[in-house]
Amino acid sequence: MSRPKILLTRRWPSAVEAVLAERFEATFNTDDLPMLPDAIAEALGTHDAVLPTVSDKLPASVFEGDIRAKVLGNFGVGYNHIDIAAAKAKGIAVTNTPGVLTDCTADIAMLLLLSVARRGGEGERQVRAGEWKGWCPTHMIGTKVTGKTVGIIGFGRIGKAFAQRCHFGFGMDVVFFNRSTVDPAEAARYGARQLATVEEVLAVADFVSLHCPGGAENRHLMNASRFAAMKPGAYLINTARGDVVDEAALISALADGVIRGAGLDVYEAEPQVPEALSGLENVVLLPHLGSATEETRNAMGMKVVDNITAFFEGREPPDRVA
Ligand code: DGY
Repeated sequence: MSRPKILLTRRWPSAVEAVLAERFEATFNTDDLPMLPDAIAEALGTHDAVLPTVSDKLPASVFEGDIRAKVLGNFGVGYNHIDIAAAKAKGIAVTNTPGVLTDCTADIAMLLLLSVARRGGEGERQVRAGEWKGWCPTHMIGTKVTGKTVGIIGFGRIGKAFAQRCHFGFGMDVVFFNRSTVDPAEAARYGARQLATVEEVLAVADFVSLHCPGGAENRHLMNASRFAAMKPGAYLINTARGDVVDEAALISALADGVIRGAGLDVYEAEPQVPEALSGLENVVLLPHLGSATEETRNAMGMKVVDNITAFFEGREPPDRVA
């Protein structure tokens, strides 16, 4: 019996590629260059499964031609880069990789929070540039983290894991906004309590951390008026999706001192980062590293293997989102 024909849009961990090569007739992207939408559209017409990542764009237009693909096995938990309605309309199933990147993404949010509050990026740049003049009582003074209030927007798996780190690791008071009501007993397990609106969270938080999905429902959730509603001297952390933040409004808020700093792992037009942002000292900028550990990237890949194996064996994929 012929094996399903699958295409990976990027290079994956080698152990995962090896499993895929055994089970499927796999086309690998050996030079690892991002595929343009036209190439993805072509792959949808020539393969039974396409396995995209957050670095790909799958707008409605890629689903317009002849389609052979029956499933998209997304390597990642977020899938706002895929037009889900268009995929569904063509009868294509979509799966993602929840759960396995929770801890590592929460760790990166903590890294950003600590780095921006304690000026870790600036300090590192100063030492490497040979510009450090030695210790003195007024040198590179940051903001204390322990005991402060953190406001979390989106209390899913990653939001909860971040709350746990903030509360039990750093004695922080944790408040959050979440679209649906979270059982107070469940919230208390993470040392957190729910507030009714984003504004209520912004009014009390010294640090605001975004953990909601990207896409139309949360586009520019953080905009100029919401930056103005943050406490003076507060910080923004974004490990969710770039489109949740109006980047131009963020740059103005940072430059004008409306907020004190930001730690970012994601951007509106990745991999482009506006010069106006990278020119600011009060930001810490990472290149979308949330899930970038050996353990997590292997686990994400193996989740895709499980999902598409189930699909082609006629079973329900464990992480089907459409
Ligand atoms: C995801 O999984 O959505 C991340 O952003 C990429 O690891």
